[in-house]
Amino acid sequence: MLGVCYYPEHWDEDWWAEDARQMREMGIRYVRIAEFAWSRMEPSPGRYDWGWLDRAIEVLAGEGLRVVLGTPTAAAPKWLVDMYPDVLPVFADGKARGFGSRRHYTAASKRFRAETDRIVTEMAKRYGGHPAVEGWQIDNEFGGDDTVLLYGPEDAEGFRAWLSARYQSVEALNRAWGNVFWSMEFRSFGEVIPPAGQVSDANPAALLDFWRYSSDSLAEYCAAQADILRKYAPGRFITHNFMGFFHQFDHARLAASLDFCSWDSYPLGKVEHFPLSNEERARWYDTSHPDFSAFHHALYRKLRNDRFWIMEQQPGPVNWAHWNPAPRQGMVRLWGWEALAHGAEVVSYFRWRQVPFAQEQMHAGLQRPDRQLSPGGKEVAVLGREIEAVGSLPQIMQADVAIVLDYEAAWVTTIEPQGEDFNYKLLLHRWYEALRRHGINVDVLTPGAPLEGYKLVLVPCMPSISEAAMAAFEATDAHLLFGPRSGSKTENFAIPSTLPPGILQHFLPVTVAEVSSLRLGVEIAVSGEGVSGTISRWRELLETELDAMVTAKDGAPVMVGNERASYLGAWADPDLLHAIFGMMLDRFDIAKTTVPEHVRLQRRGKLMFVFNYGPGAWTIPFETRRFLLGQKTVPACDLAIFEPGRSSSV
Ligand code: GAL
Repeated sequence: MLGVCYYPEHWDEDWWAEDARQMREMGIRYVRIAEFAWSRMEPSPGRYDWGWLDRAIEVLAGEGLRVVLGTPTAAAPKWLVDMYPDVLPVFADGKARGFGSRRHYTAASKRFRAETDRIVTEMAKRYGGHPAVEGWQIDNEFGGDDTVLLYGPEDAEGFRAWLSARYQSVEALNRAWGNVFWSMEFRSFGEVIPPAGQVSDANPAALLDFWRYSSDSLAEYCAAQADILRKYAPGRFITHNFMGFFHQFDHARLAASLDFCSWDSYPLGKVEHFPLSNEERARWYDTSHPDFSAFHHALYRKLRNDRFWIMEQQPGPVNWAHWNPAPRQGMVRLWGWEALAHGAEVVSYFRWRQVPFAQEQMHAGLQRPDRQLSPGGKEVAVLGREIEAVGSLPQIMQADVAIVLDYEAAWVTTIEPQGEDFNYKLLLHRWYEALRRHGINVDVLTPGAPLEGYKLVLVPCMPSISEAAMAAFEATDAHLLFGPRSGSKTENFAIPSTLPPGILQHFLPVTVAEVSSLRLGVEIAVSGEGVSGTISRWRELLETELDAMVTAKDGAPVMVGNERASYLGAWADPDLLHAIFGMMLDRFDIAKTTVPEHVRLQRRGKLMFVFNYGPGAWTIPFETRRFLLGQKTVPACDLAIFEPGRSSSV
């Protein structure tokens, strides 16, 4: 199912009917509108103008299109900011950011919350029961443009209230944070300030709590909008469009008020923003990396009710990365199919037509500004026909292997990197990549998600193990594989009394006696039964009676384990990771097919999908039966959908 993001307010009303007709003809069924149109909905305080939106919805519905309405809170109008300048976000430098782009608010502002309630209520009352409005998107990309951690007076006030609810007494707070160090003790909660602007490092425990508070504050803000929508738009879905590789708030917590997650997939833009080497960036510059989108499809599907949408899919060059290449021919179609293979219910493109004015004029749409299809638009038209021909896709099954993303791990390792090259995002990506190179489906979960039914659960790094996470680990029969720094902190950002991996010693009698972070270029050779390779960036000295599964050339254990769990106390480089995971998959009887770096397999029920990110063709090495799309040899930037033959192990 295809969708598109449309901005009727950007175009002549005379064009709307033709636009809607062309959307339908391309196979588009869903249209998201209105998420930045507050100034048109309420041109001046309390004076609403719904006429244009009524007509736009009417025109779209006239072509049978289903509408997703965005609440407009990511772009408050000028009059609101002038009336209430306190809603503006204050950054860590102490300066408020002004009007003139978007996301210019703090969710801690009581005034902004009241204004939000008002506009969302008015909108929901008007359209909540509209037959063409099938669902709602709350706000737009929470946290975008670095707006999670904010430092204004109301953020500080909210933080103090949050701390007082959590710790009850200021003595407990002082103890939890270790404030005796450097005379940081407070006499009352009223003395607490957000951790920014100090001479040198702020207390990491304070930073972690500030991050937790900020994350909770956004989740609360989203839930307040959801409550209004549930009241006035009963039976309609509620979603939010999350971003990729964005760890600044706890997405699981925010998703709790949604029916399902959506996410905005910009595969090429992300190549430029991700901490890959320049060689890798050049390698994937116009196809993207074959695990970037897949990882997020898996994450957002599992985050809420096993459902997800792509709300914004890249159709051509974007405007916001360091460099903005056009996708290689075939990739727009491939990314669309890839999302469907991973269970996306709808793939919606950003945007219908490239806009010739304002900030995003260099961002492609399905149409060019002259109303002709863009190269990406042409591929989407093909995709629309193929989706029609292939028909409904089977249910996606639970994978044998899960990997756990921990938002707090991103915060802890950012707050206390200890080595410049310990990058949590990259670690997570490397683990996922190494798994996917074995041709298997991988579920992506968050801490505390049920782990029943998995054979192998990988936790690349989880410094602080919450009660919920521990309960899920204890309840599963899956083998647990923990990576570096797991269990290395208490929930108050302190070293556990029994040393790392702390509470995980329940599974594994091992002690991390010392850690070394390593500058890039330092590589240590390691080997084990059937595996060899290098570690870099991070190395832990493990004290244990357990047998070593991987040992460094100096004889020290690098990976140890027992029946129940394993611990990998180092940053393992890609080939080593691939070998270790291969060994683990064999050990737990999980069928694998080694694929080249540019090919990925994805199973959906009885169907198998092959995605070839190029540059060379790939011939499927196992038995195949009926092809729904493509053939045994899959050309570069192309795909195949088929049923694997009986004799194939995959
Ligand atoms: C997204 C955002 C859209 C648009 C798009 C451009 O992050 O939600 O509104 O700006 O990027 O790529």
